[in-house]
Amino acid sequence: MALDTTISHLSQFLGQSVTIHGWLYNRRGSGKLQFLLVRDGTDVVQCVLNKQEVSEAVFSLASELGMESSLVISGVVHEDKRSQLGYELHVTELKLIHLAKDYPIQKKEHGDAFLMDHRHLWLRSKRQHAILKIRHTLVKAIRDYFDEREFTLVDSPILTSNACEGTTDLFATEYFGRMAYLSQSGQLYQEAAAMAFRKSYCFGPTFRAEKSKTRRHLNEFWMVEPEVAFMDLEGDMALAEDFLCHIVQTVLDKHERDLVDTLERDLTYLKNVKKPLIRMSYTDAVKKIQQLYEQCDNPDLKQQLKITWGEDFGSPHETELTKLYDKPIMVYGYPKAVKAFYMKADPAQPDVALCVDVLAPEGYGEIIGGGQREDDLGVLERTIQSHRLPLESFKWFLDLRRYGSVPHAGFGLGLERTVAWICGLHHVRETIPFARTLDRLEP
Ligand code: 4AD
Ligand code: MG
Repeated sequence: MALDTTISHLSQFLGQSVTIHGWLYNRRGSGKLQFLLVRDGTDVVQCVLNKQEVSEAVFSLASELGMESSLVISGVVHEDKRSQLGYELHVTELKLIHLAKDYPIQKKEHGDAFLMDHRHLWLRSKRQHAILKIRHTLVKAIRDYFDEREFTLVDSPILTSNACEGTTDLFATEYFGRMAYLSQSGQLYQEAAAMAFRKSYCFGPTFRAEKSKTRRHLNEFWMVEPEVAFMDLEGDMALAEDFLCHIVQTVLDKHERDLVDTLERDLTYLKNVKKPLIRMSYTDAVKKIQQLYEQCDNPDLKQQLKITWGEDFGSPHETELTKLYDKPIMVYGYPKAVKAFYMKADPAQPDVALCVDVLAPEGYGEIIGGGQREDDLGVLERTIQSHRLPLESFKWFLDLRRYGSVPHAGFGLGLERTVAWICGLHHVRETIPFARTLDRLEP
């Protein structure tokens, strides 16, 4: 009797007969030997059919299977040092569950648009499988990090009546006759949570109606947002640094094979993600970018690198700045004017915010944004008004400054940008199961 198992457990059955349930991933060979690459969702194994060892019916069935046909396959587990898995299956029995014909994703190179149109099928590919497994590990590492440090998960709502990050990129909807918006960030609710639980976090989808087509932008993305009472910018930066090093190392420990063999990722810079990370003020970062501008001999790029103190960084600024270093950079103290209303001003220089952005190396740019929050009622009321936000919908938020206001800080890490960086991907769209971008609501 063959034992039912999955490919991920084959190593436990060396020399024994097993049965696996899966799909045909690829094939080669003919004549007397057929090699079927079968995937079962846990891994991929090569299944060898020898014409002399199986029935004629099984051998001819195997030769007629279209890619992604579903199968039940039995055989004996052998060692195979040449394969990634280290094992192969010598087939004795093969049963068809469903015969697939003309699977649209072929071995040949497809364009990005074609693959994204077939995302529901593309998920089956080895590369996408590796990326989403890494995403899964990262999500768990993030949750474990906070859970093990006395943070309480307090979910922020998705439907909200107010903006968090500014009004220009809000998705609006109708809510029983009122206007409502899809949340841009759970932060404001985490500020309430931190006053109740001291250390809290939320981790969920957030929405930005940016009409932006860059490789870093999604309209729906996942963000983890810790918030801590009695913490200042210094503490926030230390937390972000420790957290980032921890989650990157956790993924490296678990996924070296996926990263190196499947995604062909060079791990040099990822292995550098150890404390201390680089710290740099916005003012110094601007000076560095101005030097890059002076030295740049590519006219298009030079134009994009132009910057004066007071302006926010664009992707090209971040990209070129991060290329100068071999580990993440924590840029702190951006001009108050380019940041969100809730940022606290530096008492020593009121036009500077007590904020930090963490920029990933190798040109990946901002993956974390955060800082210390304004905790004074009067100042906050005035900034909400000067940002032309409706004071009425921030009434509850202002209560947090009325009843036991304390210094507090937090940050948000974008999951997809972090996965893209760790996996070395060009575009964030491959890091989320079903991407929502400017021109895509399906699949
Ligand atoms: O810098 P952001 O806008 O900060 C906030 O939303 C704060 N309220 C977070 C906080 O302090 N609790 O966004 C934080 C991170 C960015 O660094 C980036 O990684 C990611 O969210 N992000 C996006 N990822 C993909 N697509 C987009 N359109 C993104 N916008 C932000
Ligand atoms: Mg930001």
